[in-house]
This record gives sequence, C-alpha cells and structure tokens, in this order.
Amino acid sequence: MFFSNSLPRKIFFGRGSLERLPEALRELELTGRAILVTGRHFARKSGYLDKLCSLMRFVGVDVIVYDKVEPNPSIEIVEEGGRIAREKGVDFVVGFGGGSAIDTAKGIAVLATHNGGLEEYFYPAKIEPPLLPIVAIPTTCGSGSEVTRYAIISKGFRKYTILSELIVPTLTILDSEVLKYLARDITAHTAMDAFSHALESYYHINSCEFSENFARDAIIIFFENLRDAVDGDMGSREKIFYASMLAGLAINLAGTLFVHSLGYYITQKFGIPHGLANMLFLRQFIEYAAEKMPDRTIALGRLLGLNSVSSEIVSRTIINKLNDLIEYLDLPRNLKEAGIPHSELFTIAEHGFSYKRNIENCRKPPTSEEIQEIVKKAYLS
Ligand SMILES: [Fe+2]
Repeated sequence: MFFSNSLPRKIFFGRGSLERLPEALRELELTGRAILVTGRHFARKSGYLDKLCSLMRFVGVDVIVYDKVEPNPSIEIVEEGGRIAREKGVDFVVGFGGGSAIDTAKGIAVLATHNGGLEEYFYPAKIEPPLLPIVAIPTTCGSGSEVTRYAIISKGFRKYTILSELIVPTLTILDSEVLKYLARDITAHTAMDAFSHALESYYHINSCEFSENFARDAIIIFFENLRDAVDGDMGSREKIFYASMLAGLAINLAGTLFVHSLGYYITQKFGIPHGLANMLFLRQFIEYAAEKMPDRTIALGRLLGLNSVSSEIVSRTIINKLNDLIEYLDLPRNLKEAGIPHSELFTIAEHGFSYKRNIENCRKPPTSEEIQEIVKKAYLS
C-alpha cells in the first residue's frame, strides 16, 4: 500500500466550535490582516458575518470582507478577490460558506502571492510556495473542500481545477450549529455531492484502504441520516456534516470520476445545482461499476455489510436505497424530469468525456460510446 496525503493542521468539529476560532488563530499564528470570503446574503442575514469579524478582531486581526461569492465561482470573482488581497496586504484568507466560498478563498490565496491570471494555475499547473494560509468554515454538508487540495472554478460551460497540497486549509472549523439555517433542498443536494464523492473515490485508481474507510463510513452515515437531516433534525444534520468531511478526505486521497464530469455541463448550462447534477448520473455509474468492476463492487458491498457474492445484487441494493431517498426528497428522477432537453444528450456526453482525468482515473475507464449510453439511460430511467 502506498498513499500520500495533506491534511489541515487543525480541525474543530461540533456545535459551537466556531467559538474556538480566536484560540486557533493564536495557536496557528494567523495574525495581521484577513480577507473574509463569503456569499452576498447568508453570512450577513444570519449574523455570522458580525460574529466572525468580532471573533477575529478579538485577537487583533484586521478583517476585510469580500462578499461576492456566487455558486460555481467564476474566474472573475476569484481574480477580483485576489487583487483586493494583494492591494490590502492580506496575511491569510478565510472562506465562510458552501464549497464555492471555500474554493474562492483558495483561489484568492493563490493569487495573493502569485502573478498573472488564475488560469495560469489551473491543473496541471504546479503551484509553488509561498501561499497565504487558508481558514475554511463550511456551512453546507457537501463539498468537502474544507479538507481537500482542490478548488473548482468555472469558466463558461467548463469547470477547472486548482490542484495543490498548498491549498489544503491550515484551519478547518465545522460548527454544526450553522446547519440550522440550511434549506431542505440545499441539504439534500449538497449531501448528494458528498455521497458522490465517497462512491466515486472508491472506484478511483488512487483509492486505498485509508480512503476506503472514509468512503465506507460516509456512505453508511449518508443512508442512515439523510431523511432526518433534510427534515431538520440537528443531530442527523451534524452526522451528514461529518460524512461530508469524510467524503472530502476520501477524494483528497483519490478523486472524483465521470459522475462529476457529466454533471458539470448541466450545472453550467442549465443551473442544476452541483450535487443534484451528480445525483442524476449516480445510478448509471453504479450499474456501470457493477458490470465493469464486479470484484470491487462486491468488496464495496462487504464494507457496507451487504454480504453478497453478486455485484448486481450489491448495485441493486444501493440503487434501491438511493431511489427511496430520491422519492422521499422529491428530487427529479432523471434528466428529463430535471428539465434537460433531449437534444442536449450528445453534448452532455461529449463534454463529460472531455475531462480526461475523470475518465482515465476510473479503475475501468469508460469508452466514449459507453458514456453516450450512460447519458441516454440517465435521461429516462
Ligand atoms: Fe462535488
């Protein structure tokens, strides 16, 4: 077995853990001036913006607020934040929000110490130190970005990745208290993203026992808690929050596959939320995995406590559980119900297949014809 992994230097998890921010900043010697990166509404309306500012000011940190983050952050938003961080001589970056806010914070941390446009730092570019330290405070249960070396940035219909161990946050605070504000649909969508991370990581060429343990726990917790979490039970929400972090740790070691690359286009073109876009291809992915990687699927079943010797039975069991959730959560069952025109299927498949890493990193990479088939099935089934 071989793996290499970078983790945050400090993780706080649990209700009220945000209160530990001042002591953590001190301990990690995060001082001077911070840029607080967040969305336009939630942080302000909920009172968290004031709270974060006062917690940081309490230990003498000067805070600049950059509250222009939008879902699926664009290059322009990150570059504007990067300019501000440079001009103001910022010492570290704090991302508060969903994956978009944390990914924007990561991009700003790169640009604050590096010349040129953000595109110069997209994968496969290698980013050289130094970078500003990053503090990640997630408010949704999905992206896992608070523990990963990825930032996903949008340009037109495409998504690009900044991939560097240097953007793993120095400090991560998962305060589940914040989840009481999370809307039902966002809870469901972001949790589907987390589930997708766990499942895809398992079939990734870099998956190993270490990542598989995270993936297994995330999948079990997801199925046991999502209904109640969506219905507002705070204990269950906290568990899904935990699962989402675990799934983040799994993709940090391995990565995502073609569920993600197929979802990117329908998010960018039709505004389908990222997690929901993934969900629309998940069942076809599971069927593909059962057929092309049967031994691995049987082993996954064993990890999940499904002691079957048939990959088909394992995949059917997982798909049935997923279908039950989709029905309960009132989510669209296929691309057609999600409002995607039939005329787009070929483009969705072509686009999804063009993300070479997401295709080739699968233990059994699909052909372009197989991807076309998967998309056709996702339209109606
Ligand atoms: Fe994702």
